[in-house]
Amino acid sequence: MELTFSRRSRKIEEGIFSVLNAKKEELLKQGRTVYNFSVGTPDFHPPVHIMEAMQEACKDPENYKYALADRPELLEAVQAFYKKRFGVELLTDQIMALYGSQEGMAHIALEFCDPGEIVLVPDPGYPVFGIGPELTGAKMVTYPLYKENNFLPDFDDIPEDTARAAKFMVLSYPANPVCTVADDKFYEKAIAFAKKYHVAILHDNAYADLVYGGKEGKSFLSYEGAMDVGIEFYSLSKSYNVTGMRISFALGNTKMIEMFKKVRSQIDYGIFLPVQYAAIAALTGPQDSVKEQCRLYEERCNTLCRGLSEIGWEVPDGQGTMFVWAPIPKNYTSSEKFSLDLMEKAGVIVVPGTAFGKLGEGYVRMALVYPKEEIQKAIQAIKESGICG
Ligand SMILES: Cc1ncc(COP(=O)(O)O)c(C=O)c1O
Repeated sequence: MELTFSRRSRKIEEGIFSVLNAKKEELLKQGRTVYNFSVGTPDFHPPVHIMEAMQEACKDPENYKYALADRPELLEAVQAFYKKRFGVELLTDQIMALYGSQEGMAHIALEFCDPGEIVLVPDPGYPVFGIGPELTGAKMVTYPLYKENNFLPDFDDIPEDTARAAKFMVLSYPANPVCTVADDKFYEKAIAFAKKYHVAILHDNAYADLVYGGKEGKSFLSYEGAMDVGIEFYSLSKSYNVTGMRISFALGNTKMIEMFKKVRSQIDYGIFLPVQYAAIAALTGPQDSVKEQCRLYEERCNTLCRGLSEIGWEVPDGQGTMFVWAPIPKNYTSSEKFSLDLMEKAGVIVVPGTAFGKLGEGYVRMALVYPKEEIQKAIQAIKESGICG
């Protein structure tokens, strides 16, 4: 049988991750010690009360049926959490659960875009922001993030015709992979831009709980006018170490949520009920582990950035997220070449910045998924490899 696949599906590249993985397997076979900083899966565990809520709910056979909708208790838990944590009041029809923000981002353009319509996404940026809309037929246009501007977009630099044509703009701070945090002025400008050009704002707040320097991560929805122009994605994945549980929320503008629910009702029959009960436990339970974890990530970040700087690879401190965005050493010009050499010579796996867009050239991303002591060992391996010139 002759198969022809869609242009959209063929456009998806296997990319550097499979190359990195094959290389990693090769090194492990050789008996080498490998430090894998490439994947953003936390090594921390979920708090016990979340796992217990899940276990308890799994004992009830009724909980294996189609959920069909978000449980009222879950909506109440989200309302109480957003009020307490971010000072944001939400109506129940401004909330919907998703199988993770990844899934939400992958489907969101179905509600906004007809084929060929434009969406604005960051470069460098988290890949699904652009790939998701492209898979559903939209056209992504990137806006640049430059170090000189703290990796924030310059709204005045977006061409007028692009701004008018764009259906939505994805913003995400604290930002993966560039590890910066946005200030109040930035969100005010974003809302003004959205109103002027009738562009919806989608704010991915996956790292709201990972802001360093004693600062509190905020919600986009806490800014005046935000609810009129956009929605926020808030994921439980990283804050509670439940990446495999697959739950996050889309929150905000009533009409956008209503249409998204309509679209998703054709795709899905609701989040597995034990997952909903575990999410209720996460949102209503003690939050001290979230704070403590943020402290540990910050400690790891400082250990890595300062330790690398000490051995001659200059890396500035991060502002948040669970990653480090490291400019490659001065003796290299290609992120990909540096990543492959780093793995070969030091056994340290990182993601080349180009995996996040053209403007990622010159950087690599490292996930803070090892305790401080292991990070120190990896730094020692890098030093001994002599790769930093
Ligand atoms: C910016 C960003 N958004 C979303 C996600 C995925 O979140 P979820 O597990 O809710 O799909 C990630 C995961 O790494 C991320 O970095």
